[in-house]
Amino acid sequence: KQAPWIAPSILAADFARLGEECEAVLAAGADVIHFDVMDNHYVPNLTIGPMVCQALRKHGIEAPIDVHLMVSPVDDLIGMFADAGASMITFHPEASRHVDRSLQLIRDAGCQAGLVLNPATTPECLEYVMDKLDMILLMSVNPGFGGQTFIPGTLKKIEQVRALIDRQERPIRLEVDGGVSEKNIRDVAAAGADTFVAGSAIFGKADYGAVIEQMRAELAL
Ligand code: DX5
Ligand code: ZN
Repeated sequence: KQAPWIAPSILAADFARLGEECEAVLAAGADVIHFDVMDNHYVPNLTIGPMVCQALRKHGIEAPIDVHLMVSPVDDLIGMFADAGASMITFHPEASRHVDRSLQLIRDAGCQAGLVLNPATTPECLEYVMDKLDMILLMSVNPGFGGQTFIPGTLKKIEQVRALIDRQERPIRLEVDGGVSEKNIRDVAAAGADTFVAGSAIFGKADYGAVIEQMRAELAL
């Protein structure tokens, strides 16, 4: 298992001050910026695209940017996000007609690649593309909105996918997204996750440093 990463989801940030918000969470101890892309087609909401990613880079954000694509189709956006400074790009297998090709496009563009499994999606789809994955993202809510409640059944899937990752020779990050907070992060970690997305649990607080520190304390227990 790799060193834990805290990945604040900027979906819950103040979009009018996005550059400052990213600086603030990074100064508060965050490891990566989680960047949620929604297209009002694959999910019923609309957010931000490659131009905003590029603007953050131009603003001086140097931390890894973890682009979570909730869009269909996927492929057209891969090159655009790579050019805009994305570090990792993940997508939902249902959203791409050719999953292996999309993963290869991400790697060819020089980014780390990952698949995202919705709460009801089984891990079988990972089997034949394991060698192309740097990250597996398990949704613990249905994608589309921040501030939802963690679906407890996800814990069992985290354990299953952890076992699958442990059978590989290469390190693969296991990320969990949706309803993660300082209250349940210890259970999520105990099930096998090493990368923790949190939107409202961090940006909903006045003191980002305090909540991130609290999360790290829970992880150290
Ligand atoms: C949901 C997004 C998540 C979301 C997490 O579709 O992928 O990244 O913003 O927000 P919280 O932590 O508030 O559930
Ligand atoms: Zn996300």
